[in-house]
Amino acid sequence: MNKFIKAYSEDGVGVIQLDRPEVLNALNRGMVEEIVAQLESFDRNELIRVIVLKGNEKAFAAGADIEEMLEETSLSLELLNPFAEWDKISLIKKPILAAVNGFALGGGFELALHCDLIIASEDAKFGFPEVKLGVLPGAGGTQFLTKVMGVRKALEWIWLGEQMTADVAHHYGVINRIVAPELVEEETMRLAHQLAKQAPISLRLIKEAVHAAADLTLLEGKLLERKNFYLAFSSEDQKEGMRAFTEKRPPSFRGR
Ligand code: CAA
Repeated sequence: MNKFIKAYSEDGVGVIQLDRPEVLNALNRGMVEEIVAQLESFDRNELIRVIVLKGNEKAFAAGADIEEMLEETSLSLELLNPFAEWDKISLIKKPILAAVNGFALGGGFELALHCDLIIASEDAKFGFPEVKLGVLPGAGGTQFLTKVMGVRKALEWIWLGEQMTADVAHHYGVINRIVAPELVEEETMRLAHQLAKQAPISLRLIKEAVHAAADLTLLEGKLLERKNFYLAFSSEDQKEGMRAFTEKRPPSFRGR
C-alpha cells in the first residue's frame, strides 16, 4: 500500500501522482522508493505502454525533503547512498512523461529531468535552490542541466539558484511543451495516449538510442542505433507495421 503516491492506469497509460500536498510534494526517501517501485511495476506490466508522473496544481515537487536531510552526515549519506535509488529511473524502458504544474525545484526538477518528455504549465517554476541551502543538486541535476543547456547557462542557473520560468526552460530545450495550467494534465495524457498507439518495441529502442547519444561518440551511437534497427526486425510489430502500410490500413501493434 502506497503512502506517498497514488497510482492508477488508463488505457495503456500508467499514472503516478506524487501525493504529499502539505509539503509541496517534498521527496522523502519513502516517496522516492514508492515512485521507483511503481515505475518498475509499470515497466514490467505488458498492459502499460507509457508512464505519466504528475504532482498537483501547486507543485510537481519542491525538492528533496529538507526536514529529512537536516541530521544527515557525509558518512550517513555514504552508507545509505539514497541517490542510488534514482539511478533505477534511468533504467525504465518505457516512455515517461512529466506533467508539471507549479514548482519543480531541486530534487523535483531532477525527477522531471529523469523523465523523457516534460509538459509544463505557463506558470511552472523550475530551478535548483540547493546553493541557498549550502549544498548542490545531488540526484543528477548538474549533469542533466549541463547536457541540455551547456556549461555556462547551467552554471548560471545552478549558481544563482533562481527559479526559471516555463518560457525560459522551453527556450533552452529543458521542457517540451507549455500549456495553460488547467490543461497540463489533459495535454500530457493526450500525448501519452498518442505514444501508447505507437509500436512499443520501437518506442523503447528509440529511447535507448536517443539517450545514449548524450554519452557515446557518433560512431558508437550509430552502431547502437543500427543494432536496435536490426533488433526491431525480430518483432511481430515490424511485420505488422510494414504490412499495414502496404495494405493501406492502420497498424495494430501488440508489443511483441
Ligand atoms: N522539504 C521539506 N518541506 C518543504 C519543502 C522541501 N523541499 N518545500 C516546501 N516544504 C514545505 C514548507 O516547509 C511548508 O511547510 P509548513 O506549512 O509546515 O511550513 C509547506 O511545504 C509549504 O511551503 P511554503 O509555505 O514555503 O510555500 P510557499 O508557496 O511560500 O513557497 C517554495 C514555495 C518557494 C517552493 C518554498 O517552499 C521553498 O523554497 N521550498 C524549498 C525548495 C528547495 O530548497 N528545494 C531543494 C531541496 S534540496 C534538494 O532537492 C537536493 C537534491 O538535489 C535532491
